[in-house]
Amino acid sequence: MENFVFQNTTKIIFGKGTEKSAGAEIKKYSNKALLHYGGQSIKKYGLYERVIKSLADTGIEFIELSGVAPNPVLSMVEEGIELCRKNNIGFILAVGGGSVIDSAKAIAIGVPYEKGDVWDFFMGKAKAEAAVSIGVILTITAAGSESSVVSVILNEKTQMKKGYHSSLMLPKFAILNPELTYTLPAFQTACGSADIMSHIFERYFTQSKNTDLTDRLCEGALKTVVENTPIVLANPENYDARAELMWASTLAHNGLLGTGRIEDWGSHKIAHELGAVYGITHGAAISVTFPAWMKYVYKQNIGRFKQFAFRVWGVDPCFGDDESIALEGIKKLGDFFKEIGLPTSLKELKIGDDKFEEMALKELQWGPIGNFMKLQKEDIVNILKLAM
Ligand code: NZQ
Ligand code: ZN
Repeated sequence: MENFVFQNTTKIIFGKGTEKSAGAEIKKYSNKALLHYGGQSIKKYGLYERVIKSLADTGIEFIELSGVAPNPVLSMVEEGIELCRKNNIGFILAVGGGSVIDSAKAIAIGVPYEKGDVWDFFMGKAKAEAAVSIGVILTITAAGSESSVVSVILNEKTQMKKGYHSSLMLPKFAILNPELTYTLPAFQTACGSADIMSHIFERYFTQSKNTDLTDRLCEGALKTVVENTPIVLANPENYDARAELMWASTLAHNGLLGTGRIEDWGSHKIAHELGAVYGITHGAAISVTFPAWMKYVYKQNIGRFKQFAFRVWGVDPCFGDDESIALEGIKKLGDFFKEIGLPTSLKELKIGDDKFEEMALKELQWGPIGNFMKLQKEDIVNILKLAM
């Protein structure tokens, strides 16, 4: 097991009706908030009124910034920073999914950073030293941004989608009401499950040794997602299954499952290129990238892939030799993604091979990506070819 420090300070408020507590939670930090959200869903399904009421009941003054799109863009972050500065905002409430939360996080570190542009953080040119406090009402189980230290933003001018890590961006609280996810379309639900699984994979596939406890936590979380996703797809208002997915989304990415192990994150970088260049929904980029990455790297540690096949997918130990067992586990993952309605090839997304080198080079600015296997340009291109 590797040395580690684990500290996650986000207060989780879980269960039915919990969005009512937003105002009281914000009040601990400020009386003036930015209410940040996406497109139609918050108003269409009545959440907006409940949030506004909670703010009004607790005397929180607020202004709004809406319209955050999936693959959230830098221009909106800049607009948010200006709004917060002009209106002396002391708290940002993100109501939505990963895109809204990531946009809120970037605004939060951008507001006090007067000597440069917020994009400096994402390009590794500056380190955030202060942030406006943020809180979250989560409406989609996927990105895990509700208690992660990461924000991922798309600079639409350079077509670069980059993540920035800082514990300053950890939400003060995350309100998780599984009922708020009943209205998710099936495709978004499935994309979310693929993303939850991918956050576990990025930690599970490690070359670190003696990680028994976190291996088993990862395997348990993966099995929970595999069992509960078909249930919510068949019955979107199954509270218990939605609750399992919601908690899995948070635990997959709050840092716990990565303790004591070197994490990978190569596949996410490739998936972010697909999001940046082709606007692909993050979870669909993941369902295409991960099986291809697995087929490319499994020989680096067949034992780990065998364990994955046995413990997560129940592959019979007599199935064949080590390699066939490892490959059977990868096949079962691909079959699962197909079964829940996700693409597993670039062809299905109508993406050709003309930009593979360009995408690889963009990701390699700071050296090879990934840790399970360090990926160079030709590796990334080969993984994308395997994803065809
Ligand atoms: O805009 P509205 O109308 O709200 O519609 C949204 C959006 O179109 C819809 N939606 C959300 N809640 C809903 C709903 N529709 C019906 N009912 C509801 N309850 O869902 C669509 C997708 O929302 P989005 O926020 O984009 O989804 P997700 O949570 O998957 O976030 C994806 C973003 O997170 C980043 C991804 O790269 C991507 O940009 N990630 C952030 C991470 C982090 N900060 O830790 C880690 C992840 O790996 C990921 O990279
Ligand atoms: Zn992800």
